[in-house]
Amino acid sequence: MNKLETSFAGLKLKNPLIVSSSGLTNSVERNKRWEEAGAAAVVLKSLFEEQIMMESARMQKSNGYGEENEYLMTYYRGHCLNEYIELLRGTKEQCSIPVIASINCYSDAEWTDFAHTLEEAGADAIELNIMAIQSEIDYDYGSFEQRHIDILRKVKAVVDIPVIVKLGSRFTNCIPLIDQLYANGVAAVVLFNRMASPDIQINTMTYTTGEVLGNPSDISEVIRWIGLASARIPSLNLIASGGVGDGAALVKVILAGAQAAEVCSTLYRHGASQVQSMLYFMESWMEEHGYESIVQFKGRMNATGMEDETVFERTQFFKYFSQKEPY
Ligand SMILES: Cc1cc2nc3c(=O)[nH]c(=O)nc-3n(C[C@H](O)[C@H](O)[C@H](O)COP(=O)(O)O)c2cc1C
Repeated sequence: MNKLETSFAGLKLKNPLIVSSSGLTNSVERNKRWEEAGAAAVVLKSLFEEQIMMESARMQKSNGYGEENEYLMTYYRGHCLNEYIELLRGTKEQCSIPVIASINCYSDAEWTDFAHTLEEAGADAIELNIMAIQSEIDYDYGSFEQRHIDILRKVKAVVDIPVIVKLGSRFTNCIPLIDQLYANGVAAVVLFNRMASPDIQINTMTYTTGEVLGNPSDISEVIRWIGLASARIPSLNLIASGGVGDGAALVKVILAGAQAAEVCSTLYRHGASQVQSMLYFMESWMEEHGYESIVQFKGRMNATGMEDETVFERTQFFKYFSQKEPY
């Protein structure tokens, strides 16, 4: 038996390393290379609801309004989608690992029909990457959380394949939301997506994009919330994303309660050889600790059996600051 085997969202995985949605998975050739490198699944780059809507609006401005423009908008959506379907079909033809389509969305508008087309094109599952900044002064608390449920319901109404939801990390408490997603039939929840952030160039006084790639320290928030969520909602599949940068990090998120990890930044930095090196580390670690399979240690360090759950809820560095001398 393959020691590293795991599963999530009803899909069998030969190991817990999934290549995360990004430019890493934006071509059939790349996806084939990830499979050859040993990855267990790929999540295709996201099809952006926002991008489609923005492009449509731009066309609206430059073409005026009217029937002709409506035709163009429909054409544009179809065109964008066709490219994506080619990527999906091509990857399915070339790879035998599960292929997950991804949609970045923030509303439950007409794009939800796309989900059905993706299912027909052979997607093994759909990942909904729901991310938007809530900054309105009259923001109605809870409405963004509710939008997640509405989107999930709408997509689930048009597909039979597993629907996964990938969350952003900016929630006061994501546990009730995850619980609601579970109650509404989500197949797995991914914690967390990485948000593009702004930065300021002080010489030109312009806005630029902040650091694009993630860092190993990002894993702390992932461990915290996977550790809590896997204890509170034990039968839900959770996937870690964020800061899983080496083999030890992969072991950590499984100990916290994840079924698998979606890995991105470290693959941008180190390339395909990082897949084998992470898996090799994990297998050696399992051997050293006498584990024959992933289920034997998955969630072993989640909040369930912890004598002191405050380890997950600690927000201040009391001990650290009392012992650390400033220079
Ligand atoms: C350059 C880049 C592009 C990304 N594009 C997407 C995307 O299209 N869809 C998505 O769901 N996540 C996207 N992400 C987020 C990653 O899939 C991943 O969730 C995040 O980077 C955290 O994992 P990491 O710490 O291993 O990078 C992107 C991340 C990066 C760095």
